[in-house]
Amino acid sequence: MGEMSYQDLLALFGIGGAHPGGIALTEEVLAGERLQRTTRVLDVGCGTGQTAAYLARTYGCQVTAVDLHPLMRKKAQERFAKEKLPVKLLKGDANKLPFPSGRFDLVLIESVTVFTDLARSLPEYARVLRPGGVLLDLEMTAERPLSAQELQELHGVYGTKVVPTEAEWIGRLQKAGLREVRTVKGGTVASALPDEKSGANVLPEFNLSDEIDPKVYQIWEQHQRVTDSFKHRLGYRVYRAKKGKQSST
Ligand SMILES: C[S@@+](CC[C@H](N)C(=O)[O-])C[C@H]1O[C@@H](n2cnc3c(N)ncnc32)[C@H](O)[C@@H]1O
Repeated sequence: MGEMSYQDLLALFGIGGAHPGGIALTEEVLAGERLQRTTRVLDVGCGTGQTAAYLARTYGCQVTAVDLHPLMRKKAQERFAKEKLPVKLLKGDANKLPFPSGRFDLVLIESVTVFTDLARSLPEYARVLRPGGVLLDLEMTAERPLSAQELQELHGVYGTKVVPTEAEWIGRLQKAGLREVRTVKGGTVASALPDEKSGANVLPEFNLSDEIDPKVYQIWEQHQRVTDSFKHRLGYRVYRAKKGKQSST
């Protein structure tokens, strides 16, 4: 492993529900969808697999999960094995998904796209959806356009090149060939902080590795500092979109 990154931190700490609102928000959003045993769901950037496991356990639907990080996949695999859940887990890059076109009814992405190359990942989500299929993407969203300096500060901690506003996310999803794009949920980072809400579900889950590089704690501190200083400038949104019935994508 070269330079330690924020993604390595999440993997070493084994953080599940590594997105604002945690698994509680995920459950709420999924409750609005029609999920059946035959529904084919793809969880892109599944992390330690908390959401994929929830989907398989609760709805019994056909879940496929991909992540780029080997340690994330290891922790996800251990979870699925322990719970005896038939989740199909693969190494996969959001920028180049290892599936044929039109494979999934629902593509779910939680706090992943912002770390990818948006010009590649968003069209990939659209490609692997079947016509009429649904995309749900929960992403870090700027509450107002950020300055170059603010973006640089975020880049230093998260490696993100852009942090779009809500209007920019919607525009990019539309440009990727998706239809009926709308925001189903959202708020500032401040509004989603665990201590401002009650309920243990909002707190992330931890699955710590035995050996943790001390450099990781430095990144954790930076993350905490940036989260606090940007808590009113950054937020999250859950975007929902559909692939057109006779889309050319
Ligand atoms: C903030 S975590 C979110 C994990 C999980 N979705 C959750 O909500 O707990 C981001 C995840 O995206 C994965 N990731 C980052 N870039 C990726 C890419 N290009 N393709 C696939 N996964 C990626 C990371 O390895 C990490 O597991």
